Amino acid sequence: MNQVYSSSPVDYLRDISAWVSSVQKLDQLLELIMKTSVRMMQAKASSLLLVDDNGKKLYFEVITGSQKEKIKSFELKVGQGIAGLVAKSGEALLVEDVEKDSRWYKKVSRDTGIDTRSIICSPMKSDSKVIGVVQIINRLDGTPFTGDDLNILNVFADVAAKAICDSRRMARVSRENLDLKEQAAKRYKIVGKSRAIKKSISDALKVADSNARVMILGESGTGKELMAHMIHKQSPRKDASLIVLNCGALTENLLEDELFGHEKGAYTGASSKKYGKFELADKGTLFLDEIGEMGLNMQTRLLRVLQEGVYYRVGGSKTVSVDVRIICATNRDIEQEVKDGRFREDLYYRLNVVQIKMPPLRERKEDILVLAEYFLSQLKAERGEVDLHFSKDAVKLLRNHCWSGNIRELKNAVERAVIMRNGNLINSEDLPFSGCISRAGENCSPSFEPGETLKQAVKHFKKDFIASTLKAYGGNRTRTAEALGIQRTYLSRLLTDYNLR
Ligand SMILES: Nc1ncnc2c1ncn2[C@@H]1O[C@H](COP(=O)(O)OP(=O)(O)OP(=O)(O)O)[C@@H](O)[C@H]1O
Ligand SMILES: [Mg+2]
Repeated sequence: MNQVYSSSPVDYLRDISAWVSSVQKLDQLLELIMKTSVRMMQAKASSLLLVDDNGKKLYFEVITGSQKEKIKSFELKVGQGIAGLVAKSGEALLVEDVEKDSRWYKKVSRDTGIDTRSIICSPMKSDSKVIGVVQIINRLDGTPFTGDDLNILNVFADVAAKAICDSRRMARVSRENLDLKEQAAKRYKIVGKSRAIKKSISDALKVADSNARVMILGESGTGKELMAHMIHKQSPRKDASLIVLNCGALTENLLEDELFGHEKGAYTGASSKKYGKFELADKGTLFLDEIGEMGLNMQTRLLRVLQEGVYYRVGGSKTVSVDVRIICATNRDIEQEVKDGRFREDLYYRLNVVQIKMPPLRERKEDILVLAEYFLSQLKAERGEVDLHFSKDAVKLLRNHCWSGNIRELKNAVERAVIMRNGNLINSEDLPFSGCISRAGENCSPSFEPGETLKQAVKHFKKDFIASTLKAYGGNRTRTAEALGIQRTYLSRLLTDYNLR
């Protein structure tokens, strides 16, 4: 028998497919689907049941019809009644007259006073696993449901299943996203209780909210990159990306290519279009690390972009315009670089709207233990070891060690100690500098071993002195050689001899 529907099935399904993409809330969408199926089949009521997490029970998720409040509290076992059987077998069922069917579970109808006569029920599947069922009861005109009705209900069940799976996937993705954000926030935590670091943090928080360009200054390993992340995470741009580009690590051509991208065929080897970091950072933040290493030609190009707000990809003829906040950092004495003509003054003023200084560790001794404990707690969490502590001696040694400015050095020391220790206590011998003598105080002397000959001690001193000068000049050999008053070639030889490469 051909069924007569009030509108064409195609119209109903078209409506539903429009809702699937426009209705944001799953429960509203499922209700719409179920109400439409009832209207379309001119039936009395419908319900959608979901299989619980254990795969043992079915509970009512959506109910239409007059008795919905009463039905809500019922649960069915998978395998029990028509709905339970459909959930178990994954096969749709049509029951023309429930009274004549022993599979029918009377209790729900009896207890709620529903006069159930005819039922159609279809499974909802995800990757061939049944996640629930949809069922419709009683035609308004009292006639039983037909095979055509069941075919149509199968389509409704598929649409509902897809909506449920999409929504569950979205929920999982957004949960994971939240987890990742929390992890990232933890990773970018700036630890410290000294006045110096608190001042840097409070300066950064004041400026984070604005669009102002920030220049972060500080020696190597003092947390400049960490600070850039913190500013980005506290800014209105936090949901877009922070893109990092190390200007010191690339030749001029590569830097240009990385910053601005290129068009297909811009040069030999440019086989496809490439987006530059500027474009990737659109609506977000671009962190130009080691800006002091940028050559004068690139400085001029960068300045032009900052002045004009647009640029061309390499080999391109169309302007690209982006909305990017720039944060930069350097461990060089940038003002001296400007004075010496190695850094453009006009670019310096454009970038240095707000300046944040990262204090070296040796100037904030109160932070040594706080940081050491923080790094230890991170390692404990990573390794799943709860009961791991510094011994009193280790604490003393950490506190009294003559730290340079570099916090990475402290982090590495803690990491090494965790690897080397026996048992749950980290002793002073586990720290990489145990056995070296160093004086605490404002002017730390380089460490030396007792019992060395003068020649050995001088050699150690020379090594330390060259290493720290090289560090102070950001690894620039020409300037280090100048400062030490020796030839660059001689410096290179010393670096090889002392294994300082
Ligand atoms: N205040 C701090 N709290 C927690 N961790 C810190 C802090 N400062 C630095 N660190 C850690 O020390 C390491 C060095 O920090 P970062 O890379 O941000 O320094 P940097 O100044 O950019 O170094 P470089 O000059 O070598 O590029 C990182 O592992 C960072 O997580
Ligand atoms: Mg850095």
